[in-house]
Amino acid sequence: MGKWWKKAFGYQIYIRSFKDSNNDGIGDIRGIIEKLDYLSYLGINLIWICPFFKSPMDDNGYDVSDFYNVSSDYGTMNDIQELIVKAHQKKIKIIIDLILNQTSDEHLWFQESRKSKDNPYRDYYIWAPPRYINGQRVEPTNWASFFGGSCWEYDQQTNEYYMKIFSRKMPDLNWKNPRVRDEIVKMTDYWLSMGIDGFRLDAVAHLGKSDLMDSTYQTQERYKPEWEKYSNLSVVHDYLRELNQKVFSKYDIVTIGEVGGRALVEDALRYVSPKRRELNMVFNFDHNWCNNGWNRKKGEKLKIDVQAMKDIFEKWQTGLQGKGWNAIYWLNHDQPRVASHYGDRDYFHESAKMLAVCMYFMWGTPFIYNGEEIGMTNPEFKSIVDFKDVSIHNQYRINVIENKQDPTDFINYVSYSTRDNARTIMQWSNDEYAGFSNDKPWNMVNDNYRIINVKDEIANKDSILNFYRKIVDIRLHSEYNNVIAYGKYQQLKKEHQQLYFYLRQYRTKKILVICNLTNENVKIDELEYKIINIIISNYERKEIPQEFAPYEAIVLEVE
Ligand code: GLC
Ligand code: CA
Repeated sequence: MGKWWKKAFGYQIYIRSFKDSNNDGIGDIRGIIEKLDYLSYLGINLIWICPFFKSPMDDNGYDVSDFYNVSSDYGTMNDIQELIVKAHQKKIKIIIDLILNQTSDEHLWFQESRKSKDNPYRDYYIWAPPRYINGQRVEPTNWASFFGGSCWEYDQQTNEYYMKIFSRKMPDLNWKNPRVRDEIVKMTDYWLSMGIDGFRLDAVAHLGKSDLMDSTYQTQERYKPEWEKYSNLSVVHDYLRELNQKVFSKYDIVTIGEVGGRALVEDALRYVSPKRRELNMVFNFDHNWCNNGWNRKKGEKLKIDVQAMKDIFEKWQTGLQGKGWNAIYWLNHDQPRVASHYGDRDYFHESAKMLAVCMYFMWGTPFIYNGEEIGMTNPEFKSIVDFKDVSIHNQYRINVIENKQDPTDFINYVSYSTRDNARTIMQWSNDEYAGFSNDKPWNMVNDNYRIINVKDEIANKDSILNFYRKIVDIRLHSEYNNVIAYGKYQQLKKEHQQLYFYLRQYRTKKILVICNLTNENVKIDELEYKIINIIISNYERKEIPQEFAPYEAIVLEVE
């Protein structure tokens, strides 16, 4: 208890799409500075800024070519310093992405590494010779890449392959090499000494790789998606403990790992158990991938699988509580918009507000993703040119161009899941380009910016934004702040078909959260608790209703 980040309310900023200060169509650091007042108004006290380092932008900055410099798209080192000072003046802490799994192929280390087998930087990356099967050159293993195709790329210069579990312009670092680890220690320390307050550790589950042996998965694909070959291996924990001991432990910071590759609660505990001295918390993806309905027809609505969703919450809440800390969030820059994914367009406001209650009264440090607080939705993708994400273009090449999938089918399918959903520009107002810039933005503007934008949301006291502000305020500043931060989580009526009930208790204070996850009217039985106060209600109830309306959510103080 006591650590500042246990009482933080986070907000993730996808810098490229957030605010453009110099009208070149690209969001930037000064754009964030301009919007600090807005962030204070929202009430959050922690921001996570997506990568702004020097980069050829193959993967919007997750492909870093120089960890010690800022991309000219985004500004200068002075801008970063000014942002840190100004945010701190407003009591907003800053965390940044720590990208450890890979660099850009344009990074100096890789430029050297690929030159020759005896280059001093050769072992900074993972190289392996080809195999020859029936005289054909074949990759060292049959493992898939997350972005489609093989996780290996052939490099003619030395007739070897390098590993790249993301794009071909993102070679994986070789963490077995102590020199690589030393470089990372140095870089991590550099950013902390600059005054930032911690890190979101990108793709951290993948730092260790299995021995190079083929996957035995029996699937149709040529390259096998056996992510376990390079996810959550025990050696990752050795690397993290080293980093913690050499750097993290010297500062009062927060560290949050992104643990993909199907991490289980047991895996998560290995990262966040305080006695292991690795990370403070992790982001998992279970709720993003729960009954995700990527296969549904165009325009078809997704119904939340109530039981599956509740089981996931239960698993992570009870699995970690008392043993580590948790991070809670609906989406990030790699997931579809929650208003489109789990929200309901026929009950747009009700469902968006309900989802906020459902998530942000649970236990853990919350993170809002920029635009979520105004109910931003997925855009409509009409053709492949509407997509910016390198991984979609890779998959398009493989599925449509090479394997002749119907392009319309392809687009319908990826439209629900694509990372581009979350990356359209932030909708500030109903001015041209949604008030993001005076010039044409790098990415599309969702057509609905005329009705969904910050300016209108501020003006409307019943808006989604004002509801989010209320939640942030209750969580951080009300008499309930301790019970929300530290209270024990307990789910009630686990089998209920429509409602999600959970109780939070800290000392003698108890709050009860009830959310209708469906569009149905639902009668509720007499509660076995005495109601002391209605803390928040998305239908503005003055007393608890006998029947819950569609997507109704209510938070009660009870005894
Ligand atoms: C993480 C990031 C994602 C990026 C990948 C490679 O999953 O969130 O955006 O593409 O790592 O760095
Ligand atoms: Ca700009």
